[in-house]
Amino acid sequence: MSQTDNTTKEAAAEAAEAPSSDNNGHKKANGSGGLVILFFFIGLGASMILGWVIFPALLYSKKPQPIDFNHALHMKLEGINCESCHFFREDGTYSGVPRLAQCVRCHKEVQGETRHEAVFVEKYVSTGREVPWLVYSRQPDCVFFSHAAHVKLAKMDCVTCHGHIGESTHLKIYEENRLTGYSRDIWGKNLENWLALKRNPWDRMKMDDCAECHMEETGRKTSISTEKDGCFVCHK
Ligand code: HEC
Ligand code: HEC
Ligand code: HEC
Ligand code: HEC
Ligand code: HEC
Repeated sequence: MSQTDNTTKEAAAEAAEAPSSDNNGHKKANGSGGLVILFFFIGLGASMILGWVIFPALLYSKKPQPIDFNHALHMKLEGINCESCHFFREDGTYSGVPRLAQCVRCHKEVQGETRHEAVFVEKYVSTGREVPWLVYSRQPDCVFFSHAAHVKLAKMDCVTCHGHIGESTHLKIYEENRLTGYSRDIWGKNLENWLALKRNPWDRMKMDDCAECHMEETGRKTSISTEKDGCFVCHK
């Protein structure tokens, strides 16, 4: 039985070799190889455009802030520091984005001639309506984050997690992920950030990014993915 098997195999091998031994056959094979490579690069190019340009453009909806805000301008004013607008309350919770109360002492009336200030005073200050600021660093509801632990206890700088917003002259456009509803700053702006190649700690703030620093800081070698109780440090 094995003998007949072998002979049929040999015959098949000979039959397969036959066309490739003639010159014509070889030329054909090279030609189609070139086409395959060409199509490969066309496909690669198309998927790169799709992945880098079209997909992110479709995935994120752009929402401008209700009004622009100039951090640099306000930081130059007498008696103003970050805590004038972002501070810890008596009970240790963080005030987060400022409320009108932090602005009205200076903006009861229009101060200058800029359009943003005019809109701010007209639409919000004079009506008493809070400005619906969009929070770039907003985490999903299931995540517990404490500014006190990081800023007060661990003495960390705002820049480490937020970048240089405190020195900026404009607020950037807020981008919301259409599928998850999360801010784009969580997953990172660029494909490099998605691939976990961060140049700055504030480029991305996914679970791995929190965990990476926690492991460095605490010297614990265990990964959060293996430590079951560890989940409840950050999840409610
Ligand atoms: C210590 C006083 C002070 C406080 C507090 C303050 N501002 Fe201002 N703000 C100013 C001054 C001064 C200007 C400059 C006005 C000008 O010359 O155009 C200004 C300008 C502005 C502008 C226009 C800037 C531009 O470049 O278009 C906006 C908008 C604004 N403030 C919003 C706010 C908001 C919102 C708050 C509260 C979170 C706030 N300000 C708190 C004093 C203050
Ligand atoms: C006069 C008020 C005022 C002062 C002073 C101020 N900020 Fe802000 N800050 C704002 C307003 C208004 C926003 C817009 C809220 C938003 O991001 O939607 C903001 C937003 C931010 C955010 C972005 C939060 C987020 O994720 O959306 C950071 C970070 C921040 N400020 C840091 C700072 C730092 C650091 C300083 C001091 C160098 C500072 N701020 C001083 C008013 C102020
Ligand atoms: C360890 C990283 C880290 C540091 C350091 C840090 N933040 Fe944040 N910040 C966050 C995260 C994460 C959030 C989102 C929290 C959430 O959605 O529950 C946030 C939210 C905020 C917000 C918006 C809060 C809201 O929901 O209204 C402001 C404003 C802000 N931070 C300002 C600051 C300032 C000013 C400093 C420096 C004094 C600072 N942060 C330091 C990580 C950090
Ligand atoms: C750059 C470093 C760094 C980053 C990024 C960071 N943390 Fe932390 N975190 C710390 C340090 C340092 C402490 C202090 C306590 C400790 O040593 O465990 C802390 C403490 C905490 C605590 C209190 C823990 C406790 O035992 O009470 C929580 C909750 C927390 N972080 C959540 C987060 C979340 C959620 C993120 C991401 C959105 C994050 N952290 C990002 C450094 C960081
Ligand atoms: C150091 C803080 C931290 C710890 C510890 C942590 N997480 Fe997270 N987790 C986050 C943050 C921040 C997010 C939101 C950002 C993201 O999607 O990566 C998240 C998101 C998630 C999500 C997706 C939820 C959603 O709505 O997108 C799941 C599921 C999850 N974590 C499970 C776990 C489990 C299981 C553990 C324990 C093994 C754990 N996490 C431990 C910070 C943490």
